[in-house]
Amino acid sequence: MEIKLREIAPLRVRTALLAVPVTDKSLKEGLARRLDRQLKGELGALVKKSRFVARRGSSLLVATHGAMPAGHVLLVGLGKHEEEGLHDWRVAGAVAAKEAGRVWADEAVFMLPPDQQTGPVVGAVAEGALLSAYRFTRYRSNDNQKSRVRALILGRTASGRSVALTRAVKKARLSASAVCLARDLVNEPPSTATASYLSEQAAAHCRGEGLKVEVWGKKKIEQMKLAGLLAVNQGSREEPRFIHMRYKPEGRPQKKIALIGKGITFDSGGLSLKPPRSMETMKLDMAGGAAVIGVMSVLPELAPNAEVLGLVPATDNLPDGGAQKPGDVIRYLNGKTVEVMNTDAEGRLILADALALAGREKPDCMINLATLTGACIVALGNELAGLFSNDGDLAGKLIECGRDAGESLWRLPLAAEYREDIKSHVADIKNVGGSSAGAITAALFLQEFVSEVPWAHLDIAGPAFAGKDQVTCPKGGTGFGVRTLLNLLSGIQ
Ligand code: BES
Ligand code: MN
Ligand code: ZN
Repeated sequence: MEIKLREIAPLRVRTALLAVPVTDKSLKEGLARRLDRQLKGELGALVKKSRFVARRGSSLLVATHGAMPAGHVLLVGLGKHEEEGLHDWRVAGAVAAKEAGRVWADEAVFMLPPDQQTGPVVGAVAEGALLSAYRFTRYRSNDNQKSRVRALILGRTASGRSVALTRAVKKARLSASAVCLARDLVNEPPSTATASYLSEQAAAHCRGEGLKVEVWGKKKIEQMKLAGLLAVNQGSREEPRFIHMRYKPEGRPQKKIALIGKGITFDSGGLSLKPPRSMETMKLDMAGGAAVIGVMSVLPELAPNAEVLGLVPATDNLPDGGAQKPGDVIRYLNGKTVEVMNTDAEGRLILADALALAGREKPDCMINLATLTGACIVALGNELAGLFSNDGDLAGKLIECGRDAGESLWRLPLAAEYREDIKSHVADIKNVGGSSAGAITAALFLQEFVSEVPWAHLDIAGPAFAGKDQVTCPKGGTGFGVRTLLNLLSGIQ
């Protein structure tokens, strides 16, 4: 979909669909009122009849029947006046693009209110529209999906150039492409999306000025003593990969940041086998890794003033004759030993290697994303990710970036009270806690491998995968985390 910025006179523009964003207040004034007059009261009457109150995500479509050059007017709800945030604009952009497709519009205009013609709003609308167009159709023999609008024109009232707005559209395009790459990687069937596939995709998509990808195969992983990754990989026919991506801007960067993503390409549970229903969506278990690859892929164009290291340990978790067994002990690179009590708690085992390795680089902060625990879904559901951090500033920044991105993060405690729960009789620690606080004990396990550096762990088990269609994302991989991280990185200049 093309996104264009143009000066538009809404009552005179010839277009298939004119989208007009409204709040409960602006629904009765300004452009909405002028349109109602032009349509001889028909708009107002329909608003009344359908009880349209401009709720966020709602819309009202009216055919103009020649009363004005635009074929349809679409009121798009933003919610309550002065309560609307950036994510409401993102949803509005998505709704407008969707509805334009429904009336087979080739091109549609989204009219920006005069007081909202800013970079952040333009970026959010564009991003929403682009994200709503995502489909995963590679395996459909007849793609009878709804039609899609080819171009969305963001209408301004002022003329002339606006560098900030143009830049915002470009950023939205980058962000949407990063999110869609992450979605594609998650949606790909697990027998195709193996560890080597993931590394090939990373190499193919992470190109450009300042960006390098290095893939470690099994030999190198053995040399580097990544014991957790090797232990989890024992039960698999597929070789593991450790994907190493690095972006370096020109000159001396302001910050050095390490991003780490869980790359379990399929989680059967291993010998601690999952029941069938729990396995159905376990191709999602590399969503953290996919998000990191997505983010890295756009860094040459986004050009943040930070060195960014992206690490993705990748393997599937399967139960063949060589599989690790409950009771086995892993000896890690930092000297710590771990008793494996449950082979289904495999994510933390491979993240431990990567966290220890990243710590050696002495980054300013490290952030890991992982579909780590079902317990986090019990606690926060499918909309929010759990956020754990040893640093209040980093946690606060992430929450703020997440809010603007439309990705809600909720901070949970690294409660020292539960450290007891992961003590082992045989080794230093074990890989499962007690029967409760599962998201916390998993985070405490990770913390054992974090040195003295600001660190955040995002448990994205819930929001990484949409169980049903949403406006900005169809059922399947969501690319959760990508936009939050891009917000954080683009803030470093
Ligand atoms: N990949 C799962 C977590 C998960 C569950 C992600 C549901 C998305 C949806 C993880 O590896 C896992 O199996 N965790 C176990 C941990 C337990 C054995 C301590 C879990 O949550 O049950
Ligand atoms: Mn598991
Ligand atoms: Zn898992």
